[in-house]
Amino acid sequence: MNSVIRDIAINRHVSSGDFRGAMRQLTGGVSVITAGRGRDISGMTVTSVSSLSVDPPALIVSVNRSASSWPLLKRYGFFGVNVLTSDQIDVAERFAGKDGLKGAERFARVEWTTGVSGVPLLTSALAAIDCEIEETIERNSHAILIGRVLDVSVSRRTAALAYWQGQYVAVDRNEDALRLAEISVPLPRARGTA
Ligand SMILES: Cc1cc2nc3c(=O)[nH]c(=O)nc-3n(C[C@H](O)[C@H](O)[C@H](O)COP(=O)(O)O)c2cc1C
Repeated sequence: MNSVIRDIAINRHVSSGDFRGAMRQLTGGVSVITAGRGRDISGMTVTSVSSLSVDPPALIVSVNRSASSWPLLKRYGFFGVNVLTSDQIDVAERFAGKDGLKGAERFARVEWTTGVSGVPLLTSALAAIDCEIEETIERNSHAILIGRVLDVSVSRRTAALAYWQGQYVAVDRNEDALRLAEISVPLPRARGTA
């Protein structure tokens, strides 16, 4: 057992509600994890994607083992990470299961292609990352997937979708840069104004 974990002797109980409240303060980038092949495909909305290492390129994602995509992740051993743009709240909601659609039905109104691994990838995503599952760590209700990156494609768009305090938030590089410029450098008055 890891010695750092073994020596912790604090027994204070933290309720799941308190923990949720703390995690609501953490801003997360919104992605859709895609899995499966052929007609046996599905996907789920996540904020738990994080970079693991650059050399070799690898990332991690935490997936609830009760999610309908979990059996596909286990069966095929590959997944796609589709980083959503700010105008894809409807896609995020559909892949979170909010309108009751399951499996391939979730892809009905989005353009997608097949990645080198065979998983579906959303063509309109800010970035699409094709991964092979290198390791799965099952812990509590979830599993941490370590994904070895096989292929990436990056769009030229600049507006990402984040999730914070239970709400979707747009992060737009151009708009935010303009706003920052307005705050830090007073804009010259237009000619003819008082
Ligand atoms: C913004 C947002 C972020 C989410 N992040 C995660 C996550 O990181 N891991 C996870 O297992 N579920 C996450 N979920 C929940 C899954 O999207 C949802 O439970 C999943 O689609 C399961 O539904 P299904 O069984 O109908 O497929 C998130 C949902 C939303 C709306």
